[in-house]
Amino acid sequence: MKTTPRRYHITTFGCQMNKADSERMAGILEDMGFEWSEDPNHADVILYNTCSIRDNAEQKVYSYLGRQAKRKQEQPSLTLAVAGCVAQQEGESLLRRVPELDLVMGPQHANRLRDLLEQVFDGNQVVATEPIQIVEDITKPRRDSTVTAWVNVIYGCNERCTYCVVPNVRGVEQSRTPEAIRAEMEQLGQLGYKEITLLGQNIDAYGRDLPGVTAEGRHQHTLTDLLYYVHDVTDVARIRFATSHPRYFTERLIRACAELPKVCEHFHIPFQSGDNEVLKRMARGYTREKYRRIIDMIRHYMPDASISADAIVGFPGETEAQFEQTLALVEDVGFDQLNTAAYSPRPGTPAALWEQLSEQVKSDRLQRLNHLVAIKAAQASQRYLGRMEEVLVEEQNPKDPTQVMGRTRGNRLTFFTGNIAELKGRLVPVKVTEVRAFSLTAEPT
Ligand code: SAH
Ligand code: SF4
Ligand code: F3S
Repeated sequence: MKTTPRRYHITTFGCQMNKADSERMAGILEDMGFEWSEDPNHADVILYNTCSIRDNAEQKVYSYLGRQAKRKQEQPSLTLAVAGCVAQQEGESLLRRVPELDLVMGPQHANRLRDLLEQVFDGNQVVATEPIQIVEDITKPRRDSTVTAWVNVIYGCNERCTYCVVPNVRGVEQSRTPEAIRAEMEQLGQLGYKEITLLGQNIDAYGRDLPGVTAEGRHQHTLTDLLYYVHDVTDVARIRFATSHPRYFTERLIRACAELPKVCEHFHIPFQSGDNEVLKRMARGYTREKYRRIIDMIRHYMPDASISADAIVGFPGETEAQFEQTLALVEDVGFDQLNTAAYSPRPGTPAALWEQLSEQVKSDRLQRLNHLVAIKAAQASQRYLGRMEEVLVEEQNPKDPTQVMGRTRGNRLTFFTGNIAELKGRLVPVKVTEVRAFSLTAEPT
């Protein structure tokens, strides 16, 4: 006879979308009466929420799983679940690889966790990867922070970037209604959350799948309209959104950000490559010139806006000269932050079948790009020196308990002397006294 499991553990890999899903799944588990266990070895239910964006992310999951599968052989009452993007990508074949698994569930099924676990507790091995209409989130997430929160606005992605596994694993775009989004934000405001980040893999696609067209013939619900609709939610002081796609980024959106005081002047707009030929083979749908115009437009309305992006080096066929176009774009724009990655071939994507560059070329280019990024970010940081900034305090500095840490509106991590018990969740005006490439030190004023 199985005793009822009581403790759960979730390890989350991957992007903010996965983190948000994990918070909702944790909420479901707590609703079912489970208690959080920091140590997976003390948990009765272990859930890995997985990422498959690059091969190394995927491999990490298998090594974690292997360890717990072994434990399960000695403790058969342990429930082992894999959620997220590797679960969706591998489906049934994960069960063949790790027969100890009880549950394999794709990202679209996150809100169904209770139902799926109940099937498991009845004695079934369950695979839930069929595409579904995502059920509106009626659970109460167990959020990691009490200050900042994520709110999904659109699930899935309809793009077909030739390197990317996301459309295969996250399914087609599904927008939540403006009313549901606003209701969640209102509730967060009441709970004391000060900052909300609206989330979507391609957030500029928000609303394309909702009914309604305006007199001018555009979709009635766009990200811009959503920002106007939610910007005055009570008690929420800051609003951010990610991730933006250059193909759909509009001047109307930039104007809204400039106009709405709660919307922070920070934009995350991945460009992936600075070379037009590579961009075309990536099927990104914009040129370097168009990307450059977007940056100029942002800086025209908000001269001080902070801009971050993602880039890939070593895409199949990328020549040295084409790679240098990426360096040139970074040199030219001077990003505040850039997430860089060496191209990793992904199953079921077109570019995986093309002729690949050597690992050595890829890692050499990655190193050169990272070097430039650090220099440019340090330069960009200089503009903050001596300046007044507003920091939303999130946590104690784990490396120095006399300091608290938080972020500026431009998303720069900032440390200053203070008592976390007193300052957590507060917006504190500070003067910046020290700058580094990706963080600042300040003093309260
Ligand atoms: N939706 C966002 C980002 C999606 S994934 C966008 O369209 O930009 C996050 C980042 O991972 C991407 O921006 C890209 O830089 C990187 N990435 C995606 N697939 C990759 C692959 N196969 N190899 C290396 N990096 C990849
Ligand atoms: Fe992937 Fe492209 Fe969709 Fe971003 S827009 S998630 S890179 S397919
Ligand atoms: Fe990874 Fe899935 Fe996010 S592949 S980056 S967790 S959408």
